[in-house]
Amino acid sequence: MPTKTVCAIIGIFLGLSLAVDGVRAQTGAGPSAGAGQAPKMAEEVYKNIQVLKGVPAELLHQIMEITEGALGVGCGYCHAGFGDFEKDTPRKLISRLMMKMVMDINKENFGGRPVVSCYTCHRGHALPVNDMATLPDDRPQAVAAGAAQPETPSADKLLDQYIQATGGMDALTKITSRVARGNFLSPDGRRFPAEVYVNGPDNRVILWQTVRGDDSVGYNGKVGWIVLEQRFRVVSTPDLEGMKLENDLYLATHVKQLYSQWRVMPSEKVGDREAHVLSGTAPGRVPIQLFLDKETGLLLRVVHFTETPVGSLPTQVDYEDYRTVGRVMVPFRLRSWRAGPGDNWSTIQLEQVEHNVPVDQAKFVLPNLRPSLGQIWPIP
Ligand code: HEC
Ligand code: HEC
Repeated sequence: MPTKTVCAIIGIFLGLSLAVDGVRAQTGAGPSAGAGQAPKMAEEVYKNIQVLKGVPAELLHQIMEITEGALGVGCGYCHAGFGDFEKDTPRKLISRLMMKMVMDINKENFGGRPVVSCYTCHRGHALPVNDMATLPDDRPQAVAAGAAQPETPSADKLLDQYIQATGGMDALTKITSRVARGNFLSPDGRRFPAEVYVNGPDNRVILWQTVRGDDSVGYNGKVGWIVLEQRFRVVSTPDLEGMKLENDLYLATHVKQLYSQWRVMPSEKVGDREAHVLSGTAPGRVPIQLFLDKETGLLLRVVHFTETPVGSLPTQVDYEDYRTVGRVMVPFRLRSWRAGPGDNWSTIQLEQVEHNVPVDQAKFVLPNLRPSLGQIWPIP
């Protein structure tokens, strides 16, 4: 099969999965290493790792996606072909030098935090634009970052307003389960009947019915997974955390206790809405950004980041079409985006949402299927 076709197929595979709820497709990485169990490193799992030695194997795929998104290319730009990822090519060799450079910059200047990434220079181009005058960047001036505008309320106040606007902590914590029905729209425009089940903070699954059976993205107290076309993959530890944050109910009720440090960033637009932007961090947690509607206080967007030594990979979910269910506001449309070439949006449009109805715990059991893509990305 030509590389392009193969990468397109992988792309669809990844796109679809992420799509669902911004859940990032994974390397096929094994269940998160439990306490006392050392995670496998990239060089123990893959055949020809020179620069990414000592990096957890479960992050390899995110790193590949960072290079894709930063350069605006597909896997085939650097790799020889499907099943031949270990073979060196001229562009792979250049990328190795670039990875080493980025890791050194971060280590020597930023205490190892992934501040500089491929995107810092490449900005979606295979060859970086070096002419200052032509740098296209419509994002707000970074100068304002960190220093909140005098009229901007504090992060704490904004978070309180958001929780209040969503229904208030009292009403939100009374919701123990959610069952929702609607449709899932894949990035390639296909439409499937979908269901969402939430049970407590640790269980959530989105199922959509294709002709071949149920596909799903979900997690229980132990693992997170993606099922596509009757194959499954377990997601990496940071992605499992990210998946939980995408659950609007969990986010509203837990965000203040999960994140201890907040920065008010320059305001941004989300569609035609003006939004306050809050950047949250806490030791050992995935960095997060919340976009809160300036008028209504409601959550418009969540971005969470998987940090790797060559940069952070963002996953974004937009929340739209808010409707009242009981005493709380529920987004009936979730749109997810992932970095990479092409249009990677996918949507869940809900039609019906119910709270506090019994949910069968069997919904949250990792389906007993064959692992997916194991031959390309061995399971550590
Ligand atoms: C911009 C170049 C670039 C792109 C695009 C890219 N890769 Fe890579 N890939 C590399 C480099 C460089 C390495 C080797 C890293 C090292 O030596 O530490 C690598 C290593 C790998 C490996 C490990 C192979 C082995 O057994 O040693 C796999 C698997 C892989 N890439 C998969 C992918 C997939 C899948 C995609 C598309 C989603 C992709 N890569 C996109 C540059 C790239
Ligand atoms: C400090 C800025 C900077 C960073 C960071 C950076 N690059 Fe580059 N990259 C460049 C420049 C400049 C060139 C063009 C070099 C030239 O013209 O000789 C380049 C060229 C490349 C090329 C060759 C493209 C082609 O088609 O010839 C690849 C592949 C590449 N970079 C991959 C990466 C990857 C992967 C990362 C992240 C791990 C990265 N780069 C990070 C500046 C950067």
